[in-house]
Amino acid sequence: MPSVLILNGPNLNLLGQRQPEVYGRATLADIESSCTSHAATCGLDVSCLQSNHEGDLIDAVHSAKGVHSGLIINAGAYTHTSIALMDAVASVELPMVEVHLSNIHAREPFRHVSYLSKVAVGQICGFGPQGYLMALDAMAERLMPS
Ligand code: DQA
Repeated sequence: MPSVLILNGPNLNLLGQRQPEVYGRATLADIESSCTSHAATCGLDVSCLQSNHEGDLIDAVHSAKGVHSGLIINAGAYTHTSIALMDAVASVELPMVEVHLSNIHAREPFRHVSYLSKVAVGQICGFGPQGYLMALDAMAERLMPS
């Protein structure tokens, strides 16, 4: 079964308590558990990892090569700043879907720029936790076209 690595970046460990008016009430554990259930219905395995550290996220992307078939990444604020994370994704040549809970294009101008989008198959934003499930659907379609 193809396997997908779901990476969450800084401050996403605080989901549920962090600005619920922006990010909702679901915790990261809730999201990861619904991803695991949904992935099974799509014929995918998932592994989930969250880190507040840019280098750890980069290491996780490097380690995904040869182990996972695709990446789903919500890089939090590193989305808007990290050329290094963008380069890591480009280096491993795995399909990556970018996810954001909030609609970053309807927020502050500094959130409108995403380095990760340049190396993403596509970006899903504004749908809250459902965006991760949409990303899994997109990944299943890409990895196992009917
Ligand atoms: C976010 C949007 C980012 O701008 C922000 O820094 C986050 C979360 C989202 O999921 O909406 O930490 O990636």
